[in-house]
Amino acid sequence: MTDKVREITLRDGTSLPQIGMGTWQITDREIMKSLIKNAYDAGYRLIDTAAAYSNEIAVAKAIAEAGIPRSELILSDKVWNTSRGYDAVQEACKRSLKKLKTDYLDIYLIHWPASMKLYENWAEINAETWRGMEALYRDGYVKTIGVCNFKEHHLEALSKTAEIIPFLNQMELHPGMRQEEIMKYCLQKGIQMEASSPLGNGQILQRKELLEMAEQKGKTPAQICLRWEIQQGLMVIPKTSNRERLYQNIDVFDFELTDEEMRFIDAIPYCGGIGIDSDEVTEFG
Ligand SMILES: NC(=O)c1ccc[n+]([C@@H]2O[C@H](COP(=O)([O-])OP(=O)(O)OC[C@H]3O[C@@H](n4cnc5c(N)ncnc54)[C@H](OP(=O)(O)O)[C@@H]3O)[C@@H](O)[C@H]2O)c1
Repeated sequence: MTDKVREITLRDGTSLPQIGMGTWQITDREIMKSLIKNAYDAGYRLIDTAAAYSNEIAVAKAIAEAGIPRSELILSDKVWNTSRGYDAVQEACKRSLKKLKTDYLDIYLIHWPASMKLYENWAEINAETWRGMEALYRDGYVKTIGVCNFKEHHLEALSKTAEIIPFLNQMELHPGMRQEEIMKYCLQKGIQMEASSPLGNGQILQRKELLEMAEQKGKTPAQICLRWEIQQGLMVIPKTSNRERLYQNIDVFDFELTDEEMRFIDAIPYCGGIGIDSDEVTEFG
């Protein structure tokens, strides 16, 4: 791994790079091929995909064509909402392994908790899916297990039956969406937070405070967002289809925001992003 990128350590001692490459909405095989090659050259080692992104085969092909050894990559994948339950999650993982042409995943996450709007027994469904995740972990199919978009009540409910507390919680987090409550909860429980949509899906980058700070620091608004996130100890997985931006987004480990600058970004009010509430999510996301 490039020495530019810092690593974080999970509570079981596993080291992971603090930045990875997001792949949502990239399905074109040619684009994926050049992106993964460029990302690797730029120093990215973690690739975040999901069964729901319909790009696992494209990711596998791109890795093979770039000649990147499997051992050098951290593959992070997610089980989709239609594969909840003890057996279904294990079957889904094995399907994903085939598509990704690998015999293990580095990180496997539950994409969304079962919605309490749709299911009275949401807690039980999550518990059963998690039991399947624990089996995959114990059987060596996945090295780290976690969740996405779980709020405190989801994690509290899960902790009643879980034998292993999730190692990671991936959730939308960026300037204007600080997720303070769940950040505090996860810190107390030793659950690493990972910011999805760390650039607010691109929608926040024209916000005046970010433009102002970027100008002051001689950086770009995207770099200010990512630095604000990694300085809070978060993992980040920005997505870009652009080679230059791949390099720009990983170049955030050699400058700092002062406490005052951090607070200035903290104060940005909601200004865009994906904004799906995990208590309202449907089976289609
Ligand atoms: N677990 C979940 O439920 C969940 C939900 C959402 C996302 N995710 C993960 O998180 C990843 C990132 O989230 P995201 O895709 O929503 O969005 P994001 O990374 O917050 O933002 C991506 C957008 O910002 C633009 N962009 C990237 N770098 C830029 C730069 N340096 N300057 C200007 N614009 C830039 C991209 O455009 P270009 O491509 O044109 O550069 C794209 O439009 C996803 O790809 C996925 O892997 C997970």
